Amino acid sequence: MIIVPGPASNTLGEAIAHELGQEPVFINNRIFPDGESYIQMPHAVDGETVVLVQTTAPDPDRKIMQLLFMARTAKDFGAERVVAVLPYMAYARQDKRFLEGEALSFDVVLDLLEAVGVDDTIVIDIHSEEALAELQSKYTMKIHNLTALFVLAEYMKKQTYDGAYSLSPDIGRKKIVERVSEVLGGGFAFFEKVRDRYTGKTTMIVKDLDLKGKNVVIFDDIISSGGTMSRAIRGLKEQGAGKVAAVCTHALPVPGANEKLRNAGADDIVATDTVESLYDTVSIAGLVAEYLRTL
Ligand code: R5P
Repeated sequence: MIIVPGPASNTLGEAIAHELGQEPVFINNRIFPDGESYIQMPHAVDGETVVLVQTTAPDPDRKIMQLLFMARTAKDFGAERVVAVLPYMAYARQDKRFLEGEALSFDVVLDLLEAVGVDDTIVIDIHSEEALAELQSKYTMKIHNLTALFVLAEYMKKQTYDGAYSLSPDIGRKKIVERVSEVLGGGFAFFEKVRDRYTGKTTMIVKDLDLKGKNVVIFDDIISSGGTMSRAIRGLKEQGAGKVAAVCTHALPVPGANEKLRNAGADDIVATDTVESLYDTVSIAGLVAEYLRTL
């Protein structure tokens, strides 16, 4: 097995290789003056399982193209199996046609990965496991979804949140956050988010909870604009919660999100290193390495 970090995930790819007791094989890449990407595989891959690690945010389109180039090149040069690790998979939120005529972006990206010869795709906390399960039968390529929420919960437990209440800001992640809440051991609840499919605006239904002075950890897959977390934080603080931590797998570096979360009263903001951000304190390298050992 050869671990090849893509240009977007040099640090994480190297950490995954080290977890597996290997040295990574860094790809040669550059960006031409017109913005196109150049990719060259610097190492023989004939007969090998080649693991490409490439996140796809920020700048998803370029990063996806680079990953496609890497995968096709590995196959062209005789790789026996190509495993694409997308620590953050862009476009996964557009997994349904909410309006007539919309692109099914998630499906298109998966089609492209299969078309360039990817045998296995590994993603972390994909937006909707149900949507992924529905699409899987379309592909020969296997798609594996891992969750980083348990690793995050273990980290929060050591950061003064042992015994804290766990909250899912959305019904979609209710089941997994309920299981994760057992790590902290302080109880579990969820809020509900309703989205206007035309304007994209969301409203949060905040439930009354008995939280006086209790610390709360909110777990979500993504922080993008920070809107979802801020509303949940405000709802909790208004009910007298103690410290509130906003915890997610993927913190997308969207301008203004940090201020929004701090203004809402977030005491701590924690994310993984699937995407480089101000909060990427928890590494998923061990989680991915462990899974790669089972392939
Ligand atoms: C949406 O359903 C996701 O689970 C996240 O809650 C959402 O993507 C977060 O986005 P934002 O930070 O813009 O509210």
